[in-house]
Amino acid sequence: MSSALDIDGLVKDAEASISAARTTEDIRQVATEVGGKRSPLAEAHRALGALDPGARKELGRLLYEARTTIDALVERRRTEIRFAEMQATMESDRIDLSEFIPGTVKSSPTRGHLHLVSQTRDALEDVFVGMGFEVAEGPDIETDWFNFGALNIPPAHPARGMWDTFYLNLGAPESTLLRTHTSPVQIHLMEAAVVNGDLPIHAVMPGRCYRRDTPDARHLPVFHQIEGLVVDKGITFADLAGTIEVFTAAYFGSDIHSRLRPAYFPFTEPSAEFEVTCTICHGEGCRTCSQTGWIELGGCGMVDPAVFDAVGIDPDQWTGFAFGFGIDRCAQMRHQIADMRALNENDIRFLRQF
Ligand code: DAH
Repeated sequence: MSSALDIDGLVKDAEASISAARTTEDIRQVATEVGGKRSPLAEAHRALGALDPGARKELGRLLYEARTTIDALVERRRTEIRFAEMQATMESDRIDLSEFIPGTVKSSPTRGHLHLVSQTRDALEDVFVGMGFEVAEGPDIETDWFNFGALNIPPAHPARGMWDTFYLNLGAPESTLLRTHTSPVQIHLMEAAVVNGDLPIHAVMPGRCYRRDTPDARHLPVFHQIEGLVVDKGITFADLAGTIEVFTAAYFGSDIHSRLRPAYFPFTEPSAEFEVTCTICHGEGCRTCSQTGWIELGGCGMVDPAVFDAVGIDPDQWTGFAFGFGIDRCAQMRHQIADMRALNENDIRFLRQF
């Protein structure tokens, strides 16, 4: 009955059906058609029994080869199909995060930009870097020692009232806190400089600060300061005043000046508040500056010897000055922002202006 030729034809037919399969379902059906119990191959197998032993052996071998070939073809096609289907699924499930849908925004594609406070921080850093300062950072969470103790503000010191503090539920009561100013970064820098033996220090330290204040037009409970610290030999109050004046003109413009007024801070002696010409009235006097022509920006002074003692710097050998002021306040003054709370409200119409 069957001859080798029939088997070749059978394999060819199977091959044609297999390569015509397009989907997982197709190949499943084709696999049954060409290799299942009712397939021509299986029928040929059943017919073997009627043959004499010699022919049976010969035909059996050929059928075995045919089945091996067909099985391999089915498997290969099955793999190809599975791969193609996976590709198609991945393609259709893909999310294009950069996709811009025309018409959803008023004008052409808009690009985001840094928040005004970040832009202001960058601009202030640039001014100070231009004057030879380095930029450093410290942690938002501090211990009492860094935020107060090392800055000559011992526990129960009345000056603590200057900073309404958020304490963390960590360790002993009131031992860990959200820094109320960037001054503790001074301590980190001085301690590191002592350990590494790399005094002098000329650094500015921008960062986020926290106080238990009710937000209003001029205060935010989370705000930003930039701290300055110079520790070197022969540093005088004149260096401090000159630095503040150069910074003021460079950041606000040459028509804006600075002045220092006596003040008290535990970590500087003498201490001063520094004020700059009111940017609204340019010194004429207006409501914003309470008719004084000046606006307070921050505090400054000569580093108190008690602070040098706390970090192990010899106050007979080194002197220094420090300053600290509000970054948000600078942005407010330079851009005449009536209410500082606008900085946190995320109203895109406000933010887009800068
Ligand atoms: N840390 C002070 C505050 O937040 C500001 C300040 C005053 C910083 C005098 C200084 C300084 O470095 O010398 O109120």
